[in-house]
Amino acid sequence: MPELVYFNGEVTDFTSARVSIDDRGYQFGDGIYEVIRAYQGKLFALHQHLERLFRSAKEVYIPLPYQPAELEQLLLDIYRQSALSEAMMYIQITRGTLPRKHIFPLDLKPNLLVTIRHLPDLPSSLWDDGISVITVPDGRWDKCHIKTISLIANILAKHQAREAGADEAIFVRNNGIVTEAASSNVFAVIDGTIFTHPADHHILAGITRQYVLDIAREQNLAVREDFFTIDDLRCAEEVFITSSIQEIVPVVRIDNRAVADGRPGKVTRKLLAYYRKRVAAELS
Ligand code: PDD
Repeated sequence: MPELVYFNGEVTDFTSARVSIDDRGYQFGDGIYEVIRAYQGKLFALHQHLERLFRSAKEVYIPLPYQPAELEQLLLDIYRQSALSEAMMYIQITRGTLPRKHIFPLDLKPNLLVTIRHLPDLPSSLWDDGISVITVPDGRWDKCHIKTISLIANILAKHQAREAGADEAIFVRNNGIVTEAASSNVFAVIDGTIFTHPADHHILAGITRQYVLDIAREQNLAVREDFFTIDDLRCAEEVFITSSIQEIVPVVRIDNRAVADGRPGKVTRKLLAYYRKRVAAELS
């Protein structure tokens, strides 16, 4: 079976899969998720994604009825059934199914959904030419470290980006601090140092972000997990975003103004090359 859906123990296709209208994910956005990229038939950074999934579950009091090793084995089994080599795995765990009511019973059984799909179309121009972004006020809650499926603020930010003819939206808090983007983390090279927002409750601690930090340190590049402002961002030598699916993408325009000379920068290109080498090495 190529693209497939797993729901609470059953594997089906996308047209037959059914979820109750009383699923709390459907009614409240009451759930958590992960997105994992598979390269050449292997799930990349599965452990890190599982760790984050268990952390998210704990933060929102969803009791997971599996040990991490059991869930890992289950995900590997599901992925194997799809025989898709370049793929995207989506894992969603909602609090469970119950007639709508805000307060939840502590013993509700969570619903586990896993989908395997082809990778979305990723043209090489994404990395060769870079993307344009807009900045938007970060009006999200203060628990952005939890990977929750309640994503309406991110969705509206993406919509705003599209309306402005841009590809991504970068969130800026009202004190001017840049946090992250609608579906990626943000890095800026400022006076030769690579900056990214600290992994606190204002951002999701991206798995790709952590790889980039590790690689930069190994390469003896100057790197700081520290705050930077929208003014710093606008004057940066280079800006890029990171995510599991798109890896490292250069940002060449911000609010319709060019970043430096408007071309992907050399630190970004170097990090992308090292990142891809790391992916290949970890999967071999
Ligand atoms: N999003 N920040 C936000 C708000 C995100 O939604 C994502 C990823 C990231 C990057 O995290 P990672 O490197 O672990 O993929 C940062 C996924 C891909 C999504 O929602 O589809």
